[in-house]
Amino acid sequence: MPQQRRHLLSLTAVTDEELFRLVERASGYAAASAAGDPYPKPLTGRVIGTYFKKTSTRTRTAFSAAALRLGADVIAYGPADLQENTGETTEDTGRVLSRMLDGFVVRTAGPDREIAAYAAQDRMAVVNAMSEGEHPTQALADLTTIQRLAGRVDGARVLYVGEGNNSAIALALALTRFKDTALTVVTPPGYGLPEETRKLAAGYARASGSAFACTHDLAEAPAADFVYTTRWQTTGTSKADPDWRDVFEPYRVDEALMSRHPDARFLHDLPAHRGEEVAAAVLDGPASVAFDQAENKMHSAAAVLEWCVAG
Ligand code: CP
Repeated sequence: MPQQRRHLLSLTAVTDEELFRLVERASGYAAASAAGDPYPKPLTGRVIGTYFKKTSTRTRTAFSAAALRLGADVIAYGPADLQENTGETTEDTGRVLSRMLDGFVVRTAGPDREIAAYAAQDRMAVVNAMSEGEHPTQALADLTTIQRLAGRVDGARVLYVGEGNNSAIALALALTRFKDTALTVVTPPGYGLPEETRKLAAGYARASGSAFACTHDLAEAPAADFVYTTRWQTTGTSKADPDWRDVFEPYRVDEALMSRHPDARFLHDLPAHRGEEVAAAVLDGPASVAFDQAENKMHSAAAVLEWCVAG
């Protein structure tokens, strides 16, 4: 009987305890790596496929490097490689690959039902490496970064500034589960978090004794330990309004904004466009931990692969 695998499609399907353990485990990998210790090899003999239909520097490399460091072999598919391009269904693709692979890391940037279709089998773990609706493994890297810097995620006060995109959605679905946290999401009008995310995050925050607020007014933002932004043009998306830049312009994270949070660290999921969502002086300045955050994508990918594939 083949071993049943766990999928990571959405953080909403992960329990609080599983989420806390993933962040702890990723932080452990980061600490061990900083001490010069190699990863253990729990995935020796396993084969992981990666399929990125949209561009990726960090997530693709993070999962590939983590899989190799954990002892697995990796098969990488590009956007033009599979017979999906000639009409094979997503379900059939998942069923076939599940007979050969132990894990499948997919970036679709399409509707969430597309990634769920690969997971309509229970032999191969499917990991959402970013879909239109959520970027769950980004949030794990974000929380790992907070844990490494603050020693814990509980109590962290985060100010998110920018579009309510898939990274922001995942952040809201993850941070609010930790005790006594505060997440303020400041978005341009018309670009807020989806209503469903707001309801879920508000419910998580009530249960964990945390604060969760959404606003369009930066002046309303309370003091933060972390200021976080993402690129104005989320990978794989476009904006209908030709004048959208005018709407986003007041939401740049610059030195003036950071001076209102003098002890805050700066987070960015990258890639960045200096001069758009963030001033170069902030991204490249002393408060920025964006490149540690990028490295933590590999450590959190290791925790995810271990949990989904090795059990
Ligand atoms: N942050 C992030 O997902 O980066 P990539 O698009 O390079 O994977």
